[in-house]
Amino acid sequence: MNKPATIDFATATETHAPAQTQALLDLVAGEARDSLLAIHEVLRRELPRGRLTTYEAGGGSSSFLPLDVLSRSHVTVVDIDEDQIRNNSYAQEAILGDVQAYRFAPESFDLVICYNVIEHLPDVQAALLNFREALKRGGMILIGAPNPHSLSGVVTKYSPHWFHVWFYRHIRGIKTAGLPGEAPFATFFHPLVTLSKLDAFATAHGLEMIYRREVESPRYPEMRQRKPLFAALVDAGAAVLNAVLPHGTDVRRGDYHVILRKR
Ligand SMILES: C[S@@+](CC[C@H](N)C(=O)[O-])C[C@H]1O[C@@H](n2cnc3c(N)ncnc32)[C@H](O)[C@@H]1O
Repeated sequence: MNKPATIDFATATETHAPAQTQALLDLVAGEARDSLLAIHEVLRRELPRGRLTTYEAGGGSSSFLPLDVLSRSHVTVVDIDEDQIRNNSYAQEAILGDVQAYRFAPESFDLVICYNVIEHLPDVQAALLNFREALKRGGMILIGAPNPHSLSGVVTKYSPHWFHVWFYRHIRGIKTAGLPGEAPFATFFHPLVTLSKLDAFATAHGLEMIYRREVESPRYPEMRQRKPLFAALVDAGAAVLNAVLPHGTDVRRGDYHVILRKR
């Protein structure tokens, strides 16, 4: 959070990889980062050439878009938090508002991004219908969200907010966690956050799921780097749960990414 969309030229030059936003560079190597890089390829391939209109719903102050897409986008961010809006350095238009209620003119955008936001909304359905209306035909919605049935999802859903703040400060090492305008934000976990329900809702409302991937929550590789002992305990707990749950379950798959295309 609060990271501008700057280019890390040192990293970009060393690896000869396409330059990334700071938000992506800050994400530890792992499945979530790999999936975002795959999403970048989908966006590069599927988005129209030339200037783009992008709506970042609950955009906060950092973007996970590839820089080549970001640089040709007119970005409109809507966020309910004044500090997040103030800290946003990359949007051309920043609107203080609620994505569940805020409506744009129909067919205004090529791309809607709602990354780590739907778990905070009491009315996910209203937000999704607003996004759909605001999209041009063939336009895409990128959603990143936690999996409510994963280990991290269950803990997040059923633990009090002070525990989230403690985790961010002491395990993730984010000293400003919980201060005004800083993560973690209160979570709600509407039923549509469950991937199967989101998929069914999308299909019923003319949205085709063209990308879907469940990934290990980036908290695991982050913990393994920062707090190896704590991470070993959590990994052991996850392994026990995986052993007793139906074959193929991986409770570490804490997050998912989907791209929905408007028919
Ligand atoms: C976890 S942050 C994610 C921010 C950004 N998308 C990212 O991934 O870095 C959640 C964001 O959703 C915003 N938010 C929560 N409820 C909202 C609502 N009803 N309308 C608009 N924004 C909302 C919060 O203020 C916060 O900026």
